[in-house]
Amino acid sequence: MSQIANEVGRRRTFAIISHPDAGKTTLTEKLLLFSGAIQLAGTVKARKSGRHATSDWMEIEKQRGISVASSVMQFDYREHVINLLDTPGHQDFSEDTYRVLTAVDSALMVIDAAKGVEEQTIKLLNVCRLRDTPIVTFMNKYDREVRDSLELLDEVENVLQIQCAPITWPIGMGKTFRGVYNILQDKVVLFDAGQESANQLVNEVIDGLNNPRLDELFPLEIQQLRNEIELVQGASHPFDLQAFLAGKQTPVFFGSAINNFGVREILNALVDWSPAPGNRHTMQRDVAPTEAKFSGFVFKIQANMDPKHRDRIAFVRVCSGQFERGMKMKHVRLNRDVSANSVVTFMAHEREQVEEAWAGDIIGIPNHGNMQIGDSFTEGEVLQFTGIPFFAPELFKAARIRNPLKIKQLHKGLQQLGEEGAVQVFKPLNGADIILGAVGVLQFEVVASRLANEYGVDAVFESTSTATARWVSFKDSKQRAEFEKALVHQLAIDAGGNLAFLATSRVNLQLTQERWPDVVFHATREHA
Ligand code: G4P
Repeated sequence: MSQIANEVGRRRTFAIISHPDAGKTTLTEKLLLFSGAIQLAGTVKARKSGRHATSDWMEIEKQRGISVASSVMQFDYREHVINLLDTPGHQDFSEDTYRVLTAVDSALMVIDAAKGVEEQTIKLLNVCRLRDTPIVTFMNKYDREVRDSLELLDEVENVLQIQCAPITWPIGMGKTFRGVYNILQDKVVLFDAGQESANQLVNEVIDGLNNPRLDELFPLEIQQLRNEIELVQGASHPFDLQAFLAGKQTPVFFGSAINNFGVREILNALVDWSPAPGNRHTMQRDVAPTEAKFSGFVFKIQANMDPKHRDRIAFVRVCSGQFERGMKMKHVRLNRDVSANSVVTFMAHEREQVEEAWAGDIIGIPNHGNMQIGDSFTEGEVLQFTGIPFFAPELFKAARIRNPLKIKQLHKGLQQLGEEGAVQVFKPLNGADIILGAVGVLQFEVVASRLANEYGVDAVFESTSTATARWVSFKDSKQRAEFEKALVHQLAIDAGGNLAFLATSRVNLQLTQERWPDVVFHATREHA
C-alpha cells in the first residue's frame, strides 16, 4: 500500500455529540486515558468551559493555548490516529458546534440513560443527517437508576429516526449494575465500579451467556437476563456495517463513562467500523483523500480573546494529500499563496508545531482575519469545498452603539465577525439597525465582548421584532424585484451578500411562503 493510502486508512476523525451533562467531557477524558494520551483523569475536566459562568469562560478563552488545544485532540490507538473534535461544551449552543460536524467522518452520540433523547441531541443528530454521518451510540450512567433499556432504544428509533443495533446489553442498573453482555462476541464483561485508570483494567470476562459461572455469580438474575437477551435479539436489528456507514443504523453500547466501563468497546468500534476519511465534494469535482496534492477547508475560526494578540486560528480539515510544514498553499478565495510555517497541530496533551498531516487531520493556521469559514486551501488548483452550512438563526438582536462616532468601527467589527462565523449579521435593505442572528445566546455575549476588546466599540443589543429568518432564492430577477418591492421592510443582506427574509413570527413566515409559492425559502445556506 502506498504511504498515503496507509496514512489515510488509519485515520478516524469524529466528534462527540450530546446534550449538556450527558457525560461528553467525562467520556472524552476516558477515551484519552484508554489511549494512553493522558495519564490522569481530571485533565480534560479542568479545561471544560461549560461549567463556568460566562465571565469565567471568557477568561479561559483568553488563555488561547488551552482552549485551542482542547478543541481538537489527536491521539493514537491500536496503530490508528484518532482526531477527536470537541463541540463547544457550554450550556448554550453555538453555530460552531454545527460546523465542526462538517469536518468529521463519524460521530459518537452520548445519551444520559436516565434522561433519554434530549433537545440538543436531536438538533445535533439532524446536522449529522445532512451528510449521513455514521453514528455510534453510548448509553451512559448505568451505575445509576436509569430508564428501561428497550424503551431507550425505542425512543432513539422514534425520535431520532435511526435504527438501533445493540452491540452490548446491560445487566441490571444502579446498585445492581453487573456489567454488559456483548451480543456480537457472546461474552459477559463484569462491572467493577470506580476503576480510575485504563492500566488497572481488571474487569472479569466470561465467555458465553450459558456459562455456569454466571449462574454462580448471579443465581437470582441470570435467567431473567437470558430471557431478556433473547427478546432483544428477536426484537432489534442485527448490526449491519453498510447501514451504519450510510447513517441509517447506529450500533449501541451501554456503560458508565465515569467508571471507565464500556469505553474500550467504543474505541474499538471507532477503529473497526467508523470510516476512514472519504471523498469530499467541491463545486468543481470530488476530491479523494489519497490524491497526492494537498487540499483542505476551514470549518472553524477561533479568535484570540486577548486584545494584545489579534491573531486568529483557522481550523482546516485536511481533505487530501500530504501537508508538510513550510509548504506553499493557495488560499483559493483570495487567490494568494500562504506559507505554512507556523501551522499548528493538536496533540491531546499540548499544542505542537505540525510537521505533516494527512486527510482527516486538523491543522490550525494563524492569521489576522483574512481567513473565513468555508475557505479552501490547495496546492494551486481552484477547488471550493461544499457542504459547510450556515443555519437560519433562532435568536435575534438589534445592534446599537452608545457613541455614534463609532458607527464605522461597529460596521467593520460586525462585518468581520460575521465573515468569521461568530454571529450572523443582517443589514436590512431599509433601516439603519444591524440585526444579529445567533443559534445560542452566548454568541451575543461573545460578540459584545469582542467588539469592545478588538474594535473599541461599546455596543448594546436590543430586542427586535425579528423572530426567524430564511434565505430566499428566486426563479428570475423579475420575481426577485417584485418580492423586494413588496417586502422591503423585512429583507436584509447577510455577511456573505445573500438576501434573507426576516419574519416577525412563524405565522408571518408561513403566510409569506403561502403568498409567494414560487420563492424558495431556505433554512440553511451553504458557504458560497
Ligand atoms: P457533559 O460534558 O456532557 O456536559 O457532561 P460531563 O462529562 O461533565 O458529565 C456531567 C455529569 O455527569 C458530571 O457530574 C459527571 O461526573 C457525571 N457523569 C458522567 N458520566 C457518568 C457516569 O457514568 N455515571 C454517573 N453516575 N455520572 C456520570 P457532576 O456532578 O455534574 O459534575 P462533577 O462534580 O462530577 O464534575
